Amino acid sequence: MILVMEKEGALRAKRAAGERAAEMVEDGMVVGLGTGSTVKYAMERLAARQREGVRILGIPTSLQTAIRARDLGIPLTTLDIHPEPDIAIDGADQVDRGKRLIKGRGAALTREKIVAAAAGRLVIVVDRSKMVEGLHGVVPTEVLPFALAPVLASLKTLGAAPVVREGVAKDGPVVSDNGGIIVDAGFGQIRNPEDVERAITLIPGVICTGLFTAYTGKTSVVVGGEKGEARVL
Ligand code: 5RP
Repeated sequence: MILVMEKEGALRAKRAAGERAAEMVEDGMVVGLGTGSTVKYAMERLAARQREGVRILGIPTSLQTAIRARDLGIPLTTLDIHPEPDIAIDGADQVDRGKRLIKGRGAALTREKIVAAAAGRLVIVVDRSKMVEGLHGVVPTEVLPFALAPVLASLKTLGAAPVVREGVAKDGPVVSDNGGIIVDAGFGQIRNPEDVERAITLIPGVICTGLFTAYTGKTSVVVGGEKGEARVL
Protein backbone atom coordinates (compact mmCIF):
# COMPACT_ATOMS: atom_id res chain seq x y z
CA MET A 1 0.00 0.00 0.00
CA ILE A 2 2.78 2.43 0.95
CA LEU A 3 4.58 1.48 -2.26
CA VAL A 4 1.48 2.21 -4.36
CA MET A 5 1.11 5.63 -2.69
CA GLU A 6 4.79 6.40 -3.35
CA LYS A 7 4.36 5.46 -6.99
CA GLU A 8 1.26 7.61 -7.34
CA GLY A 9 3.12 10.53 -5.75
CA ALA A 10 6.01 10.11 -8.17
CA LEU A 11 3.65 10.08 -11.15
CA ARG A 12 1.86 13.19 -9.83
CA ALA A 13 5.23 14.92 -9.58
CA LYS A 14 6.14 14.03 -13.16
CA ARG A 15 2.76 15.13 -14.42
CA ALA A 16 3.00 18.45 -12.56
CA ALA A 17 6.44 19.17 -14.03
CA GLY A 18 5.45 18.17 -17.55
CA GLU A 19 2.23 20.14 -17.58
CA ARG A 20 3.88 23.26 -16.13
CA ALA A 21 6.54 23.12 -18.87
CA ALA A 22 3.88 22.82 -21.56
CA GLU A 23 2.39 26.10 -20.30
CA MET A 24 5.69 27.84 -21.20
CA VAL A 25 5.09 27.16 -24.88
CA GLU A 26 3.57 30.01 -26.86
CA ASP A 27 1.44 30.06 -29.99
CA GLY A 28 3.49 29.49 -33.14
CA MET A 29 6.51 27.96 -31.43
CA VAL A 30 8.66 25.12 -32.72
CA VAL A 31 9.21 22.79 -29.76
CA GLY A 32 11.93 20.19 -29.27
CA LEU A 33 10.24 17.16 -27.75
CA GLY A 34 12.48 15.16 -25.42
CA THR A 35 12.09 11.54 -24.50
CA GLY A 36 10.82 9.67 -21.45
CA SER A 37 8.03 9.38 -18.93
CA THR A 38 8.00 13.01 -17.74
CA VAL A 39 8.03 14.56 -21.21
CA LYS A 40 5.01 12.39 -21.97
CA TYR A 41 2.92 14.58 -19.66
CA ALA A 42 4.21 17.74 -21.33
CA MET A 43 3.22 16.31 -24.70
CA GLU A 44 -0.25 15.40 -23.50
CA ARG A 45 -0.75 18.96 -22.24
CA LEU A 46 0.65 20.39 -25.47
CA ALA A 47 -1.83 18.30 -27.42
CA ALA A 48 -4.66 19.64 -25.23
CA ARG A 49 -3.47 23.23 -25.75
CA GLN A 50 -3.38 22.57 -29.44
CA ARG A 51 -7.01 21.53 -29.35
CA GLU A 52 -7.67 24.89 -27.64
CA GLY A 53 -6.11 26.66 -30.65
CA VAL A 54 -2.40 26.99 -29.80
CA ARG A 55 -0.34 26.18 -32.89
CA ILE A 56 2.91 24.28 -32.40
CA LEU A 57 5.30 22.14 -34.37
CA GLY A 58 7.37 19.46 -32.61
CA ILE A 59 10.82 18.07 -33.27
CA PRO A 60 11.03 14.58 -31.74
CA THR A 61 14.25 13.33 -30.15
CA SER A 62 13.43 9.63 -30.51
CA LEU A 63 11.26 7.11 -32.24
CA GLN A 64 9.27 6.78 -29.01
CA THR A 65 8.50 10.50 -29.03
CA ALA A 66 7.71 10.58 -32.74
CA ILE A 67 5.18 7.78 -32.28
CA ARG A 68 3.67 9.49 -29.23
CA ALA A 69 3.40 12.78 -31.09
CA ARG A 70 1.65 11.09 -33.96
CA ASP A 71 -0.79 9.38 -31.57
CA LEU A 72 -1.48 12.71 -29.84
CA GLY A 73 -1.90 14.60 -33.11
CA ILE A 74 1.11 16.90 -32.57
CA PRO A 75 2.44 17.90 -36.01
CA LEU A 76 6.14 17.29 -36.49
CA THR A 77 8.91 19.06 -38.32
CA THR A 78 12.68 18.53 -38.60
CA LEU A 79 15.87 20.40 -37.82
CA ASP A 80 16.44 20.65 -41.59
CA ILE A 81 13.29 22.77 -41.90
CA HIS A 82 13.48 24.47 -38.48
CA PRO A 83 17.16 24.47 -37.40
CA GLU A 84 16.51 26.74 -34.40
CA PRO A 85 13.55 25.49 -32.35
CA ASP A 86 12.21 28.14 -29.96
CA ILE A 87 12.22 25.84 -26.95
CA ALA A 88 13.00 22.23 -26.06
CA ILE A 89 11.32 20.30 -23.24
CA ASP A 90 13.16 17.26 -21.95
CA GLY A 91 13.64 15.07 -18.90
CA ALA A 92 16.85 14.25 -17.05
CA ASP A 93 18.29 11.57 -14.79
CA GLN A 94 20.17 14.02 -12.54
CA VAL A 95 20.22 17.81 -12.23
CA ASP A 96 22.72 19.65 -10.04
CA ARG A 97 22.44 23.13 -8.51
CA GLY A 98 24.20 24.63 -11.53
CA LYS A 99 21.60 23.05 -13.89
CA ARG A 100 24.16 20.62 -15.25
CA LEU A 101 22.59 17.34 -16.26
CA ILE A 102 23.05 13.63 -16.73
CA LYS A 103 20.74 12.21 -19.40
CA GLY A 104 20.41 9.04 -21.43
CA ARG A 105 18.53 6.46 -19.38
CA GLY A 106 16.28 6.10 -22.41
CA ALA A 107 19.19 5.91 -24.87
CA ALA A 108 18.04 9.06 -26.70
CA LEU A 109 20.88 11.28 -25.47
CA THR A 110 22.44 12.12 -28.84
CA ARG A 111 19.32 13.52 -30.48
CA GLU A 112 18.37 15.11 -27.17
CA LYS A 113 21.71 16.94 -27.04
CA ILE A 114 21.45 18.04 -30.68
CA VAL A 115 17.99 19.49 -30.08
CA ALA A 116 19.00 21.04 -26.74
CA ALA A 117 21.96 22.74 -28.41
CA ALA A 118 19.82 24.08 -31.26
CA ALA A 119 16.92 25.36 -29.14
CA GLY A 120 16.61 28.92 -27.87
CA ARG A 121 15.53 27.69 -24.42
CA LEU A 122 15.84 24.34 -22.67
CA VAL A 123 13.18 23.37 -20.14
CA ILE A 124 14.06 20.32 -18.05
CA VAL A 125 11.19 18.49 -16.37
CA VAL A 126 11.95 16.34 -13.34
CA ASP A 127 10.53 15.12 -10.07
CA ARG A 128 12.37 16.03 -6.89
CA SER A 129 14.31 12.75 -6.73
CA LYS A 130 16.39 13.89 -9.75
CA MET A 131 17.82 16.94 -7.97
CA VAL A 132 21.32 16.17 -6.62
CA GLU A 133 24.09 17.98 -4.77
CA GLY A 134 26.68 16.72 -7.24
CA LEU A 135 26.41 14.66 -10.42
CA HIS A 136 27.53 11.09 -9.79
CA GLY A 137 27.24 7.51 -10.96
CA VAL A 138 26.35 6.28 -14.42
CA VAL A 139 26.98 8.47 -17.46
CA PRO A 140 25.25 6.94 -20.50
CA THR A 141 27.42 7.28 -23.59
CA GLU A 142 26.58 6.43 -27.18
CA VAL A 143 29.36 4.71 -29.09
CA LEU A 144 29.96 3.78 -32.72
CA PRO A 145 29.89 -0.07 -32.76
CA PHE A 146 33.17 -0.18 -34.75
CA ALA A 147 34.94 1.65 -31.91
CA LEU A 148 33.46 -0.19 -28.94
CA ALA A 149 36.63 -1.89 -27.64
CA PRO A 150 38.95 1.18 -27.77
CA VAL A 151 36.23 3.41 -26.32
CA LEU A 152 35.75 1.02 -23.38
CA ALA A 153 39.51 1.07 -22.80
CA SER A 154 39.65 4.88 -22.96
CA LEU A 155 36.74 5.23 -20.54
CA LYS A 156 38.66 3.03 -18.09
CA THR A 157 41.67 5.31 -18.33
CA LEU A 158 39.36 8.21 -17.40
CA GLY A 159 38.51 6.31 -14.21
CA ALA A 160 35.12 4.95 -15.28
CA ALA A 161 33.77 1.43 -14.99
CA PRO A 162 32.05 1.07 -18.39
CA VAL A 163 29.35 -1.52 -19.03
CA VAL A 164 27.64 -2.19 -22.35
CA ARG A 165 23.94 -1.74 -21.71
CA GLU A 166 21.98 -4.94 -22.36
CA GLY A 167 18.46 -5.03 -23.77
CA VAL A 168 15.60 -6.04 -21.49
CA ALA A 169 13.28 -7.73 -23.98
CA LYS A 170 16.14 -8.32 -26.40
CA ASP A 171 19.35 -10.35 -26.22
CA GLY A 172 22.55 -8.37 -26.62
CA PRO A 173 23.39 -4.67 -26.48
CA VAL A 174 20.93 -1.80 -26.59
CA VAL A 175 21.20 -0.22 -30.03
CA SER A 176 20.01 3.38 -30.21
CA ASP A 177 17.73 5.00 -32.80
CA ASN A 178 20.99 6.05 -34.50
CA GLY A 179 22.53 2.57 -34.57
CA GLY A 180 24.93 3.38 -31.73
CA ILE A 181 25.71 1.14 -28.75
CA ILE A 182 24.91 2.52 -25.32
CA VAL A 183 27.69 2.22 -22.75
CA ASP A 184 26.89 3.04 -19.14
CA ALA A 185 30.09 4.56 -17.80
CA GLY A 186 30.06 4.30 -14.01
CA PHE A 187 31.88 7.14 -12.28
CA GLY A 188 31.90 8.00 -8.61
CA GLN A 189 31.33 11.61 -7.71
CA ILE A 190 31.90 13.76 -10.81
CA ARG A 191 33.73 16.80 -9.46
CA ASN A 192 34.34 18.58 -12.77
CA PRO A 193 31.46 17.65 -15.07
CA GLU A 194 32.64 20.04 -17.81
CA ASP A 195 36.08 18.40 -17.91
CA VAL A 196 34.61 14.89 -17.88
CA GLU A 197 32.14 15.75 -20.65
CA ARG A 198 34.98 17.17 -22.77
CA ALA A 199 37.27 14.19 -22.11
CA ILE A 200 34.60 11.62 -23.03
CA THR A 201 33.55 13.57 -26.12
CA LEU A 202 37.17 13.64 -27.34
CA ILE A 203 37.46 9.82 -27.40
CA PRO A 204 37.36 8.74 -31.07
CA GLY A 205 34.25 6.67 -31.64
CA VAL A 206 32.17 8.34 -28.94
CA ILE A 207 29.05 9.71 -30.59
CA CYS A 208 27.76 11.57 -27.54
CA THR A 209 27.89 11.57 -23.76
CA GLY A 210 24.93 12.04 -21.43
CA LEU A 211 26.69 14.80 -19.50
CA PHE A 212 25.07 18.10 -20.50
CA THR A 213 27.05 21.04 -19.10
CA ALA A 214 26.98 23.58 -21.93
CA TYR A 215 23.37 24.78 -21.83
CA THR A 216 23.00 26.01 -18.25
CA GLY A 217 22.56 29.64 -19.33
CA LYS A 218 19.40 28.90 -21.30
CA THR A 219 18.03 26.16 -19.01
CA SER A 220 14.99 26.32 -16.74
CA VAL A 221 14.30 23.35 -14.49
CA VAL A 222 10.71 22.54 -13.59
CA VAL A 223 10.64 20.40 -10.45
CA GLY A 224 7.42 18.55 -9.76
CA GLY A 225 6.36 17.61 -6.24
CA GLU A 226 4.31 14.68 -4.98
CA LYS A 227 1.30 16.84 -4.12
CA GLY A 228 1.07 17.98 -7.73
CA GLU A 229 2.90 21.27 -7.25
CA ALA A 230 5.68 22.50 -9.58
CA ARG A 231 8.34 25.14 -9.12
CA VAL A 232 10.56 26.63 -11.79
CA LEU A 233 14.29 27.11 -11.14
C1 5RP B 1 16.21 9.65 -22.32
C2 5RP B 1 16.43 10.63 -21.22
C3 5RP B 1 15.25 10.96 -20.37
O1 5RP B 1 14.86 12.26 -20.67
C4 5RP B 1 15.64 10.82 -18.92
O2 5RP B 1 16.10 9.51 -18.71
C5 5RP B 1 14.44 11.09 -18.00
O3 5RP B 1 13.43 10.17 -18.23
P1 5RP B 1 12.14 10.09 -17.30
O4 5RP B 1 11.44 11.40 -17.42
O5 5RP B 1 11.37 8.93 -17.85
O6 5RP B 1 12.61 9.84 -15.89
O7 5RP B 1 17.48 11.19 -21.06
O8 5RP B 1 17.40 9.39 -23.01
